[in-house]
Amino acid sequence: MKYNLDEIIQREGTDAYKLELREMVFGTSEVLPLWVADMDFKAPPSVIKALQDRAAHEIYGYTIRDKKFTDSIINWLGSQHQWNVKKEWIEFSPGVLPSIMVAIHEYSESGDNVIIQTPVYPPFYSIVTENDRNILKNRLIETDGYYTIDFDLLEEQASDPKTKVFAFSNPHNPVGRAWKKEELKRIAEICIKHDVLIVSDEIHSDLCLFGNKHYVMADLYPEVRDRIITCMAPSKTFNVAGLSTAYAIIEDKKIRDRFHKRLWAMQLHMGNLFGGIALEASYNGGAEWLLALKQYLEANALLVQDFIKENMPEVGFVLPEATYLLWFDFRKWGLSPSKLRKAMVEIGKVGMNDGVSFGTEGAGFQRLNIGSPKALIQEGLERILKVRNEVFKG
Ligand SMILES: Cc1ncc(COP(=O)(O)O)c(C=O)c1O
Repeated sequence: MKYNLDEIIQREGTDAYKLELREMVFGTSEVLPLWVADMDFKAPPSVIKALQDRAAHEIYGYTIRDKKFTDSIINWLGSQHQWNVKKEWIEFSPGVLPSIMVAIHEYSESGDNVIIQTPVYPPFYSIVTENDRNILKNRLIETDGYYTIDFDLLEEQASDPKTKVFAFSNPHNPVGRAWKKEELKRIAEICIKHDVLIVSDEIHSDLCLFGNKHYVMADLYPEVRDRIITCMAPSKTFNVAGLSTAYAIIEDKKIRDRFHKRLWAMQLHMGNLFGGIALEASYNGGAEWLLALKQYLEANALLVQDFIKENMPEVGFVLPEATYLLWFDFRKWGLSPSKLRKAMVEIGKVGMNDGVSFGTEGAGFQRLNIGSPKALIQEGLERILKVRNEVFKG
């Protein structure tokens, strides 16, 4: 194998969030860290080399992002997503969450509504409420572990004159859906009809698995183009999240100018030297590595599926269409959310993201990150089984 993703790399001593915040989040640093969404794999060789080369220069002053930066994005989106982006549509941002925050500030007022689809990545809540906006929960419909959209509710929520923004996760974290064309079309129609801005978080778009395809919403229908901000980054795909480098693609000039002005007003436009280098090296030299990564993630997801089928068939689990985040339904164990969480930590010593942090809909669920060598995933599963053997009476 060209890339050794089986290698277990010690992350102790690197100030890794996933390790260092275990004490705060789980009350102990003894848990196996299978939570926060970064991976325990080295970045692609092209990225490591580019960063090392630049670090060797030893002067790290202010830098600019030039044509190389935008060209690498244009080429990546063209080759991976068949999306023909023009250079002027690209706005740098230090993160996808900052992009969403800028959009919410610019396109809504204090007290206005922002729609989110729950259960969802926890900062989608705080980014709305801590910026004095009001959350409208468009709860996803769960059927045997597969999630779909409640379009009637979405229409009702979008029709409220105070609803200004729809913060959309595609592919969705944590339910793993890569939304289909028909679903995107219906969302677009509703948002166009009610003049709601779509802020489409496509950070997981490169990580579609098992033959599923990502559809860039902004590119599907001409009518949606003056209604959408697409937020992307290489951070999840190439495991470079610590370098805080992302971008927004905005075709409509009026929307783009306002986004740009607000981003500068908030002094978020500078970015960091190494992030730009990593983005270029990822997009220019990481495609082959990404293929190997996706195969590895698929194998990990299948390992999980087989293990569950064999050892704990009552646990709800559906293979993800995208992302390295798996969403487990433990409701049949009959534990309250706090007892489930406690059992995972104290009996299993396994650190997954607690379902409740994704919203009340996540009660009885846990999110497992499979972006780790398979030996660690196997170990995590054994630990979950240990919990099951103690708490599940069948
Ligand atoms: C759906 C989603 N959006 C945004 C982020 C964070 O993006 P950033 O670190 O670029 O702000 C994550 C990280 O897990 C995520 O899953």
